[in-house]
Amino acid sequence: MKKRILIIGACGQIGTELTATLRKQYAPHKVVASDIREGDTEMMQSGPFEVLDAMDYDAVQDVVIKHEITDVYLMAAMLSATAEKFPMRGWNLNMNSLFNVLNLAKEGKIDKIFWPSSIAVFGPTTPKTDTPQRTVMEPSTVYGISKQTGERWCEYYFNKYGVDVRSIRYPGLISYKTLPGGGTTDYAVDIYHKAVKHNSYICFLNAETTLPMMFMDDAIKATIGIMEAPSEQIKIRNSYNLAAMSFNPEEIAASIRKQQKDFRISYEPDFRQAIANSWPQSINDSSAREDWGWNHEVELDEMTRIMLENLNK
Ligand code: SER
Repeated sequence: MKKRILIIGACGQIGTELTATLRKQYAPHKVVASDIREGDTEMMQSGPFEVLDAMDYDAVQDVVIKHEITDVYLMAAMLSATAEKFPMRGWNLNMNSLFNVLNLAKEGKIDKIFWPSSIAVFGPTTPKTDTPQRTVMEPSTVYGISKQTGERWCEYYFNKYGVDVRSIRYPGLISYKTLPGGGTTDYAVDIYHKAVKHNSYICFLNAETTLPMMFMDDAIKATIGIMEAPSEQIKIRNSYNLAAMSFNPEEIAASIRKQQKDFRISYEPDFRQAIANSWPQSINDSSAREDWGWNHEVELDEMTRIMLENLNK
């Protein structure tokens, strides 16, 4: 099979682990990583790498042609908290990068696209718990507006031009290899780093803020899983709800205390509290489970064990 993969935004939180997994799964030379700047030694030495601006159509096209790319994973984005500070930059990056790959597919230059959406597509008027696949969507953040708009365009390009684009609405993602940047769910990564360093954490969300979350290994499994599923199983072409667990800061702190008895957490909510308040607490992902066989593996205590063990190394 003549599959050649391009990952745009390969040095970010998701891109780093996605690149490593894809390079293991396929021959490393068939997985081209790219980002706005060079990555770490592991990234640069484990396969081909291109410095690439996701907003530059000609540059993306040149890389696609040079490496005979068939599949693109577009992981470059500005996340929720940063996009509130730089609304136009967030909008431009999130939308223009998507149009670039959608148009390359429309012109027949690539076969398949993965584009991540987010729980941020939901807003204050969305049902908060067990949020259905199809429901009220009135996002109140720049990031959420860009993701919801992107979903509409993905579905439009599929219906109108037959573009094979696949998407999932990621919950907050937790990993130990690469730090997230500029998100509202980032506290759930930071808390483990601070637990290992200081045995205490000052949380920017309040104790009761329950949000949908997922361990990175599960997210990577879902990402590659939806891309490898037969096309006819992908019945939703805007984006699939995806879920694993839901917890609030007090519950993740309690999970850490099972291993570090005297771990302390205190709360100093900032502007990110309002963003978190607008998002669902739990997500119904039965469509993903039924359509293309999604299932998650890692729950909170298991994740805590993995995070603390690896960060302590
Ligand atoms: N984790 C993202 C954020 O907090 C949501 O997709 O911005």
